[in-house]
Amino acid sequence: MKIAILPGDGIGPEITAQAVKVLNALGESFELESAEVGGAGYAAHGHPLPQGTLALAKAADAVLLGAVGDFKYDSLERALRPEQAILGLRKELGLFANLRPAILYPELAGASTLKPEVVSGLDILIIRELTGDVYFGKPRGVRECPDGPFAGQREGFDTMRYAEGEIRRIAHVAFQAARKRNRRLTSIDKANVLETFQFWRDIVTDVHKEYQDVELEHMYIDNAAMQLVRAPKKFDVLVTGNMFGDILSDEAAMLTGSIGMLPSASLDVNNKGLYEPSHGSAPDIAGKGIANPLATILSAAMMLRFTLGKPEQADRIDNAVKKVLSQGLRTADIHEEGTTRVGTEQMGDAVVKALG
Ligand code: IPM
Ligand code: MG
Repeated sequence: MKIAILPGDGIGPEITAQAVKVLNALGESFELESAEVGGAGYAAHGHPLPQGTLALAKAADAVLLGAVGDFKYDSLERALRPEQAILGLRKELGLFANLRPAILYPELAGASTLKPEVVSGLDILIIRELTGDVYFGKPRGVRECPDGPFAGQREGFDTMRYAEGEIRRIAHVAFQAARKRNRRLTSIDKANVLETFQFWRDIVTDVHKEYQDVELEHMYIDNAAMQLVRAPKKFDVLVTGNMFGDILSDEAAMLTGSIGMLPSASLDVNNKGLYEPSHGSAPDIAGKGIANPLATILSAAMMLRFTLGKPEQADRIDNAVKKVLSQGLRTADIHEEGTTRVGTEQMGDAVVKALG
């Protein structure tokens, strides 16, 4: 099995190195091959998603990505900015289903900005549609405003759209995920205002007929944003579109107070996937050896579970992470009094040791 390793920018290389160490310690015969992506891709090949990197990602069974983005590249034209690599990989690989679990490990309950009783034991899964919506909808651009009080001025515009099949396939992913958990799904939309999301609601309701064992609830995005901080543990699985999912998943990550702990998976129709931590490239701490590698290590576990068909190896990693937390080891981002502060490499080594 071939895994493409795309370290990217900022802390990306340090944290992926730890996940690679863990993968190599499992005793499997994975073939790992690295390539530049994001700002690193631009620096080496003049493009955030170089041809060779895309070809490697397509040829591999799974992709493990660190993070992209650096202040250095903020002034480049949009098409050359590091984020374009992520959007390009999603589109080119057809990664339409983004799974973002938000789990609060009991040891880290103090890390949240919310009261411990509101969040401790939190375990929810956000499923975000990732290749449609206003993110990719055409037409888009800047044009002369055709009507209304601002007619004749320049206007920026994007197009929100979802095809029926696009909604159906993400709904199936969500119902099936809910089946493996507590059988409750909340579909989040803006059906009270947007045609696209009334249609979304109708289609999700229709797909529900095939999953009568799962309880389905519809919720508007604004209310969902509120309920997520009011009583987040009432949720089990949430499914929503690309744009709302972008926002809600950051909110959910922050409930745990430790975004350095959260993995993610982006899957295609065959469960081939790209795995990456939910956090960004944190260029301000890059190269200091203090970044938390656990989200990337847990992303490797998700990869073993969803794409590589090795759930027992995924469990080994998940358990090893729980073990190092219970041993009191903490990187700077989750450090509290009474725990032992460790660096990126030490944390990686501790996980390897805890694999047993
Ligand atoms: C995310 C990020 C990306 C997104 C950016 C970097 C393009 O915010 O993965 O959530 O908006 O999807
Ligand atoms: Mg985001």
